[in-house]
Amino acid sequence: MATRHFLTLLDLSPTELHALIIRAIELKRLHYAGTRYEPLPNKVLGMIFEKSSTRTRVSFETAMYQFGGHAIFLSPQDTQLGRGEPIEDTARVLSRMVDCIMMRTHAHERIEHFAKYSKVPVINALTDLCHPCQLLADIQTFVELRGSLNGKKVAWIGDGNNMCHSYILAATQLQFQLAIATPEGYEPVAAVVKRGGEYVKVLHDPVLAATGAHLVCTDVWASMGQEDEQTQRVAVFKPYQVNSALMALAKPDALFMHCLPAHRGEEVTTEVIEGSQSVVWQQAENRLHSQKALLEFLLVRHS
Ligand code: CP
Ligand code: NVA
Repeated sequence: MATRHFLTLLDLSPTELHALIIRAIELKRLHYAGTRYEPLPNKVLGMIFEKSSTRTRVSFETAMYQFGGHAIFLSPQDTQLGRGEPIEDTARVLSRMVDCIMMRTHAHERIEHFAKYSKVPVINALTDLCHPCQLLADIQTFVELRGSLNGKKVAWIGDGNNMCHSYILAATQLQFQLAIATPEGYEPVAAVVKRGGEYVKVLHDPVLAATGAHLVCTDVWASMGQEDEQTQRVAVFKPYQVNSALMALAKPDALFMHCLPAHRGEEVTTEVIEGSQSVVWQQAENRLHSQKALLEFLLVRHS
């Protein structure tokens, strides 16, 4: 069987994506029921983090532990990666030792290159281009609380960044309308927007995007690697804050999501993130359950 990687949401078919979300909900139920389920004994996940993380690291590490396996945290600071060992050499070595590799890095091409040389599944744990694991959790959270996303309206307010790109790919896979509001010059990459086709509209008006939405999402204005642009971005993005006035334009039962970490007073107000429509803690928790479903899919069902 050919090695399956998960570098973008398009690496799953819509049918597989649906099944994975249903499975994530079931795994969460089993977890809360106290059922031991250890489908990955002796399996090892290598986790390469070339950028910081709280949720991704802890959710993958916990998932492997609860599944009866083990996870190894690898950072450039204490591996030969940081001293310039070629990525293709690292991929060939690690994939002869571990059963799956998760990678968080900068350029998307780097993980693509890594995956080309890996003989075990590679999971994208965030690149500058996309963050597909986060979308698994977001979709699971919406399905748990509101049912299918099919035909719904989702508003993306803020930067046309990695999270925005993953929302675009989710829109095509799950067939929901995605209205994106970004400042001019901060739109998502054109090729990704094109892939979104009829499901995606890129606007510059947060009011238009939020009106009638079933789900309102945002993310930080300066992503990891853009720290130098923080001050300039805060000025440009000011009209794109998700606040109570903006949430009031969405459906009365609209949900608010943020992948976290959040900057209160910038992309979202305290009132919204701590308010009754915010589901950010459930969303964060679902990283664990949905990634368990992903690991099971890659390592049990497709190995
Ligand atoms: N949302 C997310 O990926 O969080 P971390 O950067 O903490 O992993
Ligand atoms: N867009 C953010 C997401 C963090 C989880 C970043 O790339 O830093």
